[in-house]
Amino acid sequence: MFDFKQEVAEVLKQQIPDLEVEEIISMLEVPPNPNMGDYAFPCFKLAKTFRKAPPLIAEEIVGAVKINDYFEKVQQAGGYVNFFIHKAFFIKETLKEVLEQKECYGSSDLGKGKNVIVEFSSPNIAKPFHIGHIRSTVIGSSINRIYKFLGFNTIAINHLGDYGTQFGKLIVAFKRWGNEEEVRESPIPTLLKLYIQFHDEAEKDPNLEEEGRMWFKKLEDGDEEALKLWQWFREVSLEEFNRVYKMLDVSFDSLAGESFYSDKMPRVLQMMEDKGVLEKSQGADIVNLEAHGLPPALIRKKDGSTLYITRDLTAAIYRKETYDFYKNIYVVASQQNLHFEQWIKILEVMGFQWAEDCIHVPFGLVRLEEGTIATRKGRVVFLEDVLKKAIEKTREIILEKNPNIENIDQVVEEVGVGAIIFQELSNNRIKDYTFSWEKVLNFEGETGPYVQYTHARASSVLRKANTQIDSEVNTTLLTDDITMEVIKKIQQFSDIVQDAQRKNEPSIVTRHIIDLAQAFNRFYHDHPVLVEDEELKKARLAIVLAARQVIKIGLTLLGIKAPEKM
Ligand code: ARG
Repeated sequence: MFDFKQEVAEVLKQQIPDLEVEEIISMLEVPPNPNMGDYAFPCFKLAKTFRKAPPLIAEEIVGAVKINDYFEKVQQAGGYVNFFIHKAFFIKETLKEVLEQKECYGSSDLGKGKNVIVEFSSPNIAKPFHIGHIRSTVIGSSINRIYKFLGFNTIAINHLGDYGTQFGKLIVAFKRWGNEEEVRESPIPTLLKLYIQFHDEAEKDPNLEEEGRMWFKKLEDGDEEALKLWQWFREVSLEEFNRVYKMLDVSFDSLAGESFYSDKMPRVLQMMEDKGVLEKSQGADIVNLEAHGLPPALIRKKDGSTLYITRDLTAAIYRKETYDFYKNIYVVASQQNLHFEQWIKILEVMGFQWAEDCIHVPFGLVRLEEGTIATRKGRVVFLEDVLKKAIEKTREIILEKNPNIENIDQVVEEVGVGAIIFQELSNNRIKDYTFSWEKVLNFEGETGPYVQYTHARASSVLRKANTQIDSEVNTTLLTDDITMEVIKKIQQFSDIVQDAQRKNEPSIVTRHIIDLAQAFNRFYHDHPVLVEDEELKKARLAIVLAARQVIKIGLTLLGIKAPEKM
């Protein structure tokens, strides 16, 4: 693979021997406007060593630099050295790479031999998988795909919330007011109703809480009835979750949730005791984190029962021992920032060097515009309903545009679900955002349907052309600014994917494929592709093929399908 950045850096290195090539690469910028060149090297940081003003340094470098065939020219502008790449050569190299590597374009073996745990989704059993959970699922699944694409060996874990006092309460509620038939018919809504009923009744009858705690204790002690009910709740809940995972095309390598760690906690508690990190406080065990500016973390209650954080500490240690991870990533809402700060501090205090490889990847909230999403019961939003609604709305839009479309059911599912995923991954994950149908399904805006539509349009051109396309085209026909924009977006793709991986930020990929789709549509609008002139036609078709390929890879990394027709 030809690496222009590397080439620029090596040319520069000869003039600035004090800097490492890596360092020079990291300093290179892409100028905002193509008449300033393709790569710019800023000289401001060199002023001290050179004892000169940056523009003079830039001038000196330009005078001394020896460029090769890969570059058209090098120019000084202010404190910058601007490199202009040789366009026809650049296009040829880029096209060759995409058309040869196909769906692997942009992938790498960067992560070879490294295990990365990506924990995401992690809904709570017997509670609805609601719109808030979709963020973790969609962001996490994309992060998992991006790491895999870069050669990491990923382990996708769904840390199910399937343990804790609430299950004792649920058992009590079911035994008192539940009905097996109803649970089978509509598991999560029914279990949710029972849970709510428990809390209503507990306000009147204070004994209920105690009864709930007792049943959880029974569960922990392996009581047969408690276990059977709990397992059944878990099973029927998972069936519902799985329907949604299937729609989202999400899968996991492990469903080791909170209950998985129940028999592994005693050892970790012992470890904590041995290391002297536990303190007694009113009969309970805590870790005092005052020295680290954090509130104390409750690890074991007075009655001996454990907590969410106890299970998370155990899970981290288990994962290190089982997978010897390179990174251990948790995609969990920013509301849990404090929990993760305490958790990581405790791992540090316990002396685990690898604590620094545990990463909380937080995200912001979704706000709902009033009346945007139908809710089945009260204020709870069911993700499955949201996806179904997206599919139905998409059906209306597509039938209007293309009434004779083949495979309508599949296409509307791919576009409707894709629209929701794309919207989730459009903004920097930490930002809160407001969900709105209009924004999600707008075929002209910066949306999933827009990018998918661009892919379908490119596919249609290729179908019509119906000819063999390769990279052996006359690239001097493609050097105009509009076409160059498309090529540059294609060429930047592998850097973009790596940046998204480093920052655990799929929106970097999303933004880039929006830019690519927009550049492609400008190209398509201005440059007829299926022209008489065979040479020109072949050259432009190569651009269409390459752009389509990269859009598809990008969508796949986000977890979105790319239909050929829509
Ligand atoms: N089940 C939790 C919730 O829905 C999220 C779990 C996050 N993961 C973790 N390892 N704590 O709030």
